[in-house]
Amino acid sequence: MPALAVTAAEMVATGKGILAADESVGTMSSRLENAGVEPTADNRAAYRALLLTTPDLSDGVSGVIYCDETLRQRLPDGRPFVEATVQSGLLPGIKVDMGTKPLAGADDETVTEGLDGLRDRLAEYATMGARFAKWRAVIRIDEGKPTHQAIRANAHALARYAALCQEAGIVPIVEPEVLMDGAHSLDRCAVVTSVVLLEVMGELRDSGVELDGIVLKPNMVLPGQDCPDGASSGDIAAATLQALSTVVPADVAGIAFLSGGQGSVLATERLAALRRLDAPWPLTFSFGRALVDDALAAWRGDSERVGDGQAALAHRVRCNSAALSGGYSALLERETVSR
Ligand code: G3H
Repeated sequence: MPALAVTAAEMVATGKGILAADESVGTMSSRLENAGVEPTADNRAAYRALLLTTPDLSDGVSGVIYCDETLRQRLPDGRPFVEATVQSGLLPGIKVDMGTKPLAGADDETVTEGLDGLRDRLAEYATMGARFAKWRAVIRIDEGKPTHQAIRANAHALARYAALCQEAGIVPIVEPEVLMDGAHSLDRCAVVTSVVLLEVMGELRDSGVELDGIVLKPNMVLPGQDCPDGASSGDIAAATLQALSTVVPADVAGIAFLSGGQGSVLATERLAALRRLDAPWPLTFSFGRALVDDALAAWRGDSERVGDGQAALAHRVRCNSAALSGGYSALLERETVSR
């Protein structure tokens, strides 16, 4: 098996998901502030160190995505993050996009930037020990949106990023996120998700990207958060699998869903429902907020409460890992979060 395919398979190994701890400096700072923590570089590092040093994290997590700042930081014990990640039995990953910018010529749509100089940045990240990367494109549903212009621009950028990653020996996580903002229906999200993924797959093919050396990180197909009609986990799982299976070839190494602002328990229930269906690719999670929100709330920047934060993360990891193996239940969810 080629090296990229081996790494990609490790990222989606049975019962394991990917921890997204790659919030930009700005986003992480506001999350810290909301939790009453001073948004300093040291506190951002302390928080990521709390996550990484959670005991037995590698039982349910295959890798951790960081941002550039964290990759250059050290844990309080002096170890660089990459070294500590590897020592914990985890793959280090790096977010390489530079965020969304207004798309010229479009009305309130965005394109993700970061291709300029990316080859050199990837070479440096590879030297530092990064094994995989992430690029997030954002697609918004609204009246007349997304436009084909926005879908095409984002898909093209994702493919150029993915090709550059593979050239550098780094597995790209390809993340086209259709947002859950808005009042659209489950069916509309399904159609938009399929159309976006079809475009992304076409661009990846045209860029010569090896599909067994990528991990696709899509949204689950959900009704918009302001949609009056709810949907059960079973409906969501069926719609998601249907939307993906018509356009995503079976040779993609794996699918790792983002949480996208879903509540942490809901995200786990829906993941469990997805795993009950027969999918052609390994399915897992690559959650940010749905894994770490409880940990941040439990920690609140207090060194005495590191253990509480870690217990909260370990609980969510345990629940999501159980969702992947068919062992998730409301009972497990109610289990006391123990230190
Ligand atoms: O880019 C988004 C993150 O990788 C996933 O974060 O699960 O909070 O949506 P999320």
